[in-house]
Amino acid sequence: MITLDGVAYAYPDAEVFALEKVNLHVPAGEILGIVGASGAGKTTLAKAIAGFVPHVDGGELSGTVTVDGIGIADVRLAEAVAKVGLVIQNPFNQISGAKYTVLDEIAFGLENIGTPREDMIGQVRAAADLLRISHLLDRSPYALSGGQQQLVAIASMIVMRTPVLVMDEPTSQLDPAGTRMVFDVLSSLRDAGTTIVILEHKLEMLREHADRVAVIADHTIAAIGDPRQILSDPRTAEWGVGATRVTTAAREVSARGLQTSGPLLPVSVEDALIAFATEES
Ligand SMILES: Nc1ncnc2c1ncn2[C@@H]1O[C@H](COP(=O)(O)OP(=O)(O)O)[C@@H](O)[C@H]1O
Ligand SMILES: [Mg+2]
Repeated sequence: MITLDGVAYAYPDAEVFALEKVNLHVPAGEILGIVGASGAGKTTLAKAIAGFVPHVDGGELSGTVTVDGIGIADVRLAEAVAKVGLVIQNPFNQISGAKYTVLDEIAFGLENIGTPREDMIGQVRAAADLLRISHLLDRSPYALSGGQQQLVAIASMIVMRTPVLVMDEPTSQLDPAGTRMVFDVLSSLRDAGTTIVILEHKLEMLREHADRVAVIADHTIAAIGDPRQILSDPRTAEWGVGATRVTTAAREVSARGLQTSGPLLPVSVEDALIAFATEES
């Protein structure tokens, strides 16, 4: 569904590349988690998949970005937007500033593509129900908490029903319950065939919900694979990714000689229950 082939990109007037030698294939119906240190290039990668680089930011993009058979840098932004919904890093910046209510805000994209009003309302209500923000539909988009704004930003992309969703730290303003709810929604969209790329620091959530995890380090993909394998890799510190509390504890415990079962360190509590299980007598 998404293919990047030899992609390099530099922002206008930048002296260094924000992305270099990026090769990536994401099949349809996958959740790909993206992790990496601050400044590694995660947001730029998200914008390249969505066509915002080069269409919005300018700069030079080389190599090819193909989404659903379309060369995303070669088509107009309107065509790219029909393929990929991008939830940007700061939800406040996603709010259009053109609408007085959350309902109209979520409807903004549908309105732009000429969806009839009666269809639009139903679709907006369904997206709001999914993200449990129906009670906010009559409010001003500016009279919301950061977490509520983030859910509105997510709803405004989900409502477009694009084949691909790219989410740049979509749970940064959410508490654990809100985070879990968003990941459950994303998993159900994935099960219905949507391809999802999610930039996320909450590693337990990626362990539980992502099909694969990619590490961005120094402006390129340093590793990609099974979430548990990547997130328990000894190089996570070097990649600037950190580790879950479970992995950290398991590493300390195994350094003192207690062996876990299997070759991989646990990442989630569920992994740990299996890894440290002892024979019942
Ligand atoms: N608008 C911009 N103009 C110039 N350089 C930028 C811009 N946005 C990001 N960069 C640079 O591109 C690199 C990658 O940034 P970014 O993709 O935002 O990383 P991340 O999301 O992993 O923190 C960094 O070196 C950053 O300073
Ligand atoms: Mg970023």
